[in-house]
Amino acid sequence: MDIRIFKNEAEIGEAVGKLYCDFINSKPDCVLGFATGATPVPTYNYIVEQYKAGKVSFKDVKTFNLDEYCDLPKTHKNSYYTFMLENLFSKVDVNLDNVGFLDGNAADPEAESARYAADIASKGGLDIQLLGIGRNGHIAFNEPSDEFSGESHKVKLTDSTIEANSIYFDDIPMPRYAMTMGIGSIMKARKIILIATGASKAQAVKDMIKGPVTPHCPASVLQEHKDAVIFLDEAAASLL
Ligand code: PGA
Repeated sequence: MDIRIFKNEAEIGEAVGKLYCDFINSKPDCVLGFATGATPVPTYNYIVEQYKAGKVSFKDVKTFNLDEYCDLPKTHKNSYYTFMLENLFSKVDVNLDNVGFLDGNAADPEAESARYAADIASKGGLDIQLLGIGRNGHIAFNEPSDEFSGESHKVKLTDSTIEANSIYFDDIPMPRYAMTMGIGSIMKARKIILIATGASKAQAVKDMIKGPVTPHCPASVLQEHKDAVIFLDEAAASLL
């Protein structure tokens, strides 16, 4: 693991955003895995600034997102598809036909998982997968459990995740299930970038980096990835 510590989330947004822009410029038809949540927003803001300045184009970029809630219309204001539209996709020149998403309302989650894996593979696989980390060490919606998951699958969200994310649901109860890329799908990405900011992530960060590789801290599996870069602010790194 390549661990990089920055003063604050703004500095991380610039560093990770720059890394993405440089990568897109070196491979304009690259395949990027994106993440939702508060953590990547400064990175997306930096990329949008660079796009507006004419320094990067998403014209030929293909994207896949990590996860999506179940039982929520795709266009609901709290869907992760809407989040990506609002924070990145509607602000750059990405072709929405090149935006891949898990269907949280798929009648057959296993068939949906197979479709997603085949779609990613047909585009050449993920060049870079962006990740946040949950307070319980989850990555995407792969919650702590007794074994590492494989490809995409439907999950029941834990109380910790529901507590962390329900602040965003002011009109309807937060969904209890989600479709998520599995640990196996994430580990296939050629490069992984994980960002953690804030003191609430410090214990999970310590477990991910210093603890044993265990599905009880799903992010610890990144110790086994050959190109995982971890961007931390000082608060998230405070227990290292
Ligand atoms: P956050 O979520 O960026 O909103 O903290 C990260 C995660 O749960 O993976």
